[in-house]
Amino acid sequence: MIIAIDGPAASGKGTIAKGLAQHFGLPYMDTGLLYRAVGHALLEQLNAPDLSAPDLVDRAEELARNLDVTRLDPIVLGAADVAMAAAKVARIPRVRAALFEVQTDFATQDGGAVLDGRDIGSRICPQAEAKLFITASAQVRAARRTRQLQAQGIEVNEAHVLDQIRLRDESDKENPAGAFYPGEGALLLDTSELDIEAALEAAIALVNKATDQGMDG
Ligand code: C5P
Repeated sequence: MIIAIDGPAASGKGTIAKGLAQHFGLPYMDTGLLYRAVGHALLEQLNAPDLSAPDLVDRAEELARNLDVTRLDPIVLGAADVAMAAAKVARIPRVRAALFEVQTDFATQDGGAVLDGRDIGSRICPQAEAKLFITASAQVRAARRTRQLQAQGIEVNEAHVLDQIRLRDESDKENPAGAFYPGEGALLLDTSELDIEAALEAAIALVNKATDQGMDG
């Protein structure tokens, strides 16, 4: 069974996807880490806070093609500047194309998988048996992300985190190369009012509902 989880930054999709993987005994891939890794490597190559180089697209594609997906560090890649860089490289069609196969290979392994991202249900795995689109208000997402970063010992200001989440939402929604929308047949889950346990319980129920419907025809 393939479970496709999409949704905006800090909507709870990562926690839900991991919980579903554990519940259904499936391997899990956080596809945001792939884009983050390309963004991070570019920031290092260019040694600059912003991404501007005449050969940016070539560099980004090259990095995406040679990405070692076994060596992605979620802590390093979790930084806010890396997230913004990820959103920028995610707009480059050649980067999305270079990262396509590693995702489809993971999804189609024997037994299935859980993947989360922005275009899993729409483009990477339109054939997924269960597709969920996880949302939450921008304020709730900013509060969650702030707590996450603080728990890692990173000093952050919630208003600034909210601004960055809004900027990234805009960039992702208008991404001409992406697909920031629920895939066909996706079930929506708003986690604004739910804690982790309740959100996971709701997600499990939706996956069961989606797969029951699938079996019914
Ligand atoms: O999910 P996460 O916040 O880690 O993703 C970082 C960025 O990578 C997103 O803001 C988005 O621009 C990009 N992304 C994407 N497609 C995916 C996963 C992430 O465009 N499947």
